[in-house]
Amino acid sequence: MLTSAEKKTRIVVIGVGAVGSTTAYTLLLRERMDELVLIDANKDKAIGDALDMNHGLPFLGKAKVWAGTYEDCREADIIIITAGAAQRTGESRIDLLKRNVAIFESITDEVLKYNTDGILLIASNPVDVMSYFTWKKSGWPFRRVIGSGTLLDSSRFRYLIGDKLHIDPRSVHAHIIGEHGDSELPVWSLANIAGSEILLGEEDKQEIFANTRDAAYRIIETKGATFYAIALALDRICTAILRNEASVLNVSALLTNYHGISDVYLGVPCIVDHTGVREVLPLQINYNEKQLLNKSAEKLKGIIESISL
Ligand code: NAD
Ligand code: LAC
Repeated sequence: MLTSAEKKTRIVVIGVGAVGSTTAYTLLLRERMDELVLIDANKDKAIGDALDMNHGLPFLGKAKVWAGTYEDCREADIIIITAGAAQRTGESRIDLLKRNVAIFESITDEVLKYNTDGILLIASNPVDVMSYFTWKKSGWPFRRVIGSGTLLDSSRFRYLIGDKLHIDPRSVHAHIIGEHGDSELPVWSLANIAGSEILLGEEDKQEIFANTRDAAYRIIETKGATFYAIALALDRICTAILRNEASVLNVSALLTNYHGISDVYLGVPCIVDHTGVREVLPLQINYNEKQLLNKSAEKLKGIIESISL
């Protein structure tokens, strides 16, 4: 990735459906890049979004937005993939696997023709498997293939804890780790508010976790898709990369001997900077949490084995 003063920052968003277009708009509002490229199999959607966003530029500033082709990935610092099938009511993220692997086959072939040194940021579900698949297919160092992981789930968790205790969620330090999906787990043993223990009964804790884990099902039932919070989560990851922040974010990364877990992508706290995932942090979880994390890893490994890589 070039970082010289003359180099324009470029983000490409592939798949401008509900998540992709909201992410693109969030990045634009927050003025994260000089150039924003929108790509979709439905070219008209990308063209329409680019026109619509360009018409807002007099209120914003200098960014250039266009509906592009895969060749535009050449200059990209970050390529966000939000293309593919989304859950319908009652479907799990894993139910999307076959459809999205096929879609990713063609997308990654195209991206890899034109870009060799950017960062791939994956949001399409099942995100941990799609990230592993993309990493394998790319041959890139794992640190440059990142899944949005449990950043969104951790944000939901922090919001729900803060809401219960009437505390600003930004002051709640709490992690959801593992699969971005049904086998994820809450790390209650390390959750705290400015170092103070979170004083909640078992019933409250169970309710908060269930509402975190099942949040997407509830939202999909009501309005058909989730997109605002994931757009902010993707913006957060892009910012950590572009500003070389070294922020700790619960993204999906390749684990190697992480509490005995290897060769699978899972959401855990990672240091994110301009290199991508600089380091996967060894969270000091308790015995029970280790067991649950291992179960989550086993589930995803089984799924990875079912798609021939
Ligand atoms: P959507 O149906 O609104 O949008 C998907 C877009 O992908 C469409 O515009 C479609 O035309 C495009 N597309 C399909 N095949 C393509 C291809 N081969 N090349 C380029 N574009 C292609 O769906 P959505 O609600 O935006 O969700 C997108 C994905 O993000 C889903 O897999 C969903 O499960 C996932 N998601 C993940 C998170 C997360 O936390 N990681 C959160 C929300 C949604
Ligand atoms: C989410 C998506 C559906 O909002 O993965 O959690």
